[in-house]
Amino acid sequence: MTAQPRVLSGIQPTAGSFQLGNYLGAVRHWVDLQETHDAFYCVVDLHSITVEQKPDELRRNTLLAYAQLLAAGVDPHRSTLFVQSHVPEHTQLGWVMQCITGYGEASRMTQFKDKSARGGADHSSVGLFTYPILQAADILVYQADGVPVGEDQRQHLELTRDLAQRFNSRYGATFTVPKPLIVSDTAKILDLQDPTAKMSKSLPNGAVFLLDDPKVITKRIKSAVTDSETEVRFDPATKPGVSNLLTVLAALTGREPAVVAADYDGRGYGALKADAAEAVVGFAAPYAASVAELVGDPAELQRTMRVGADKARAVAAVTVATAYERLGLVDLG
Ligand code: TRP
Repeated sequence: MTAQPRVLSGIQPTAGSFQLGNYLGAVRHWVDLQETHDAFYCVVDLHSITVEQKPDELRRNTLLAYAQLLAAGVDPHRSTLFVQSHVPEHTQLGWVMQCITGYGEASRMTQFKDKSARGGADHSSVGLFTYPILQAADILVYQADGVPVGEDQRQHLELTRDLAQRFNSRYGATFTVPKPLIVSDTAKILDLQDPTAKMSKSLPNGAVFLLDDPKVITKRIKSAVTDSETEVRFDPATKPGVSNLLTVLAALTGREPAVVAADYDGRGYGALKADAAEAVVGFAAPYAASVAELVGDPAELQRTMRVGADKARAVAAVTVATAYERLGLVDLG
């Protein structure tokens, strides 16, 4: 068998339930990539603690995130599915990467600037500041060729590439320089109440949480903001709300949004919302049942997590050993 290109991606366990945008915009593509890639996927719990977490919630959310990746179709036999904190090599390489990152370079990360501006400098941890450097280590420690992420992660990927190239040029070829695999904007799921913003757990009123009750999900979709016309047409610029519903329905039924729109000629927004709600519930109900079953057997979930961590460590340990050696850290032999 010829080696498949490797991908790595990570998702934070910060909300109890993934929202529809996580699934359609990211996780669904992770599932597809398993067909053609040697895939490494992790629940990045160490990134979550860059802001204060309640320990019991973090523990529960990490298990739920892991179970949701399984329920969504990440296959632990085919891919390497693990929890970041189970693989200490991430933080080991993270330190090395911090030592080759410029202070000014780190200061230019716009996500940090946005987040710290919101909370005030004293409320931002140093961990939040170095977050992108740990992310770089997540990727480089597996020698990933590609990183499926959203547009908002482009700058972090640029930093990752810069750090890989810098290390390689100082100490000799060590890291694969990864390429971003940016999920196209047309697949981006928008907030149901404000369709100019991306759907996000931080705007809970406009998000659909997949583990919510079907009634709640249906109500959310039926109360989505549209526009004052009546024609169903795929036109993201002038009709963002309607186009977003078309994107959701199209993604869940494997069609193109413009093709889906034609079904609603003369039928109006009510019919579109009803069908979109039905499609989302049709996915979410069995998904939630599968998640409940998975978290209902913690011993089995732990076994799966251990297999993932062991597979991940086998790769990560080699990279860290090589990097340490190149840096001149003394080997115990
Ligand atoms: N920062 C990413 C996000 O918020 C999550 C993440 C952490 C990640 N480490 C990663 C994504 C490594 C891709 C690769 O979406």
